[in-house]
Amino acid sequence: MDPGTPLRSGQDDGEGGATRTETDHQALDTASLSTPTKEHVAASGRPLVSIRGVSKQFANGTLAVRDVNLDLGAGEFVSLLGPSGCGKSTLLRMIAGLGAPSSGAIDWPTTGQDAGGAPERDLGFVFQDPTLMPWATALANVMMPLTLKGIRKSEADARAAQMLALVGLKGFEGAYPRELSGGMKMRVSIARGLVLKPKILLMDEPFAALDEITRHRLNDDLLELWWKEKFTAVFVTHSVFESVYLSKRIVVMAARPGRVMADLDVDAPYPRDELFRTSPEYANLCRVVSGKLKEAIGS
Ligand SMILES: Nc1ncnc2c1ncn2[C@@H]1O[C@H](COP(=O)(O)OP(=O)(O)O)[C@@H](O)[C@H]1O
Ligand SMILES: [Mg+2]
Repeated sequence: MDPGTPLRSGQDDGEGGATRTETDHQALDTASLSTPTKEHVAASGRPLVSIRGVSKQFANGTLAVRDVNLDLGAGEFVSLLGPSGCGKSTLLRMIAGLGAPSSGAIDWPTTGQDAGGAPERDLGFVFQDPTLMPWATALANVMMPLTLKGIRKSEADARAAQMLALVGLKGFEGAYPRELSGGMKMRVSIARGLVLKPKILLMDEPFAALDEITRHRLNDDLLELWWKEKFTAVFVTHSVFESVYLSKRIVVMAARPGRVMADLDVDAPYPRDELFRTSPEYANLCRVVSGKLKEAIGS
């Protein structure tokens, strides 16, 4: 790794990821600590999600995830980066409680337990496909989680409309999914994921099917939303460029079996914009992360 590169890994830095343990990290040669941003420092010092020794073997014998150890801190923007089949979706789904680990544990140290003794997972989930109800308007789609929680219609209506405005869809409340572009449908899906104001938003390659210009715009708007709303973002992607642009931290994974190969901090300040995207700094970061990914795939 080049000296002076702004990419670092290893030590606690107070930037929301302060709870990570040293063993979770692959030490890089050049560690340069950055100043934590006030808005995104973990309040409690405890991780929101603690993943300990998690493996997942499916009934057909596939070891989709092997011995993953990760802490997700408040306010982080973490990407899970890796080739197809390395267990990104499996890991994300287990964080969401959609499928249990075969061994190990996923804890939520700062939340309570539900009546059945399971951790209360305070999260939203955005799938690669927008998965909207085709017969319902954009507003009704975003209202769905509120309705399921039993929130009365007038309040749900107002909150969903506010969320749609936040994702740039003011004026499209009454539109049906078939009337919306791919990018707009994904915006509705993100609004639905955030309408309950979850602590964590889990996103599984949400922009993979979009054209590049739309994808860049959604990347920018997602960052703005994250900055404003202060949730923790966990973003699955196989794109080095997308992960570097968005993330504070990149967890590099490899396949067969799916495992974590590197845990990198992207030490570039926010807000990030077109200037960042075209900067030598960004190009350098992409080169370094790309090298890490190649190493991971080759190993
Ligand atoms: N329900 C399942 N049953 C059996 N194998 C599965 C199942 N889901 C995923 N896999 C396998 O587990 C591995 C990881 O899959 P996945 O988590 O979808 O990877 P990624 O999201 O990184 O592409 C792959 O080999 C995939 O074929
Ligand atoms: Mg996947």
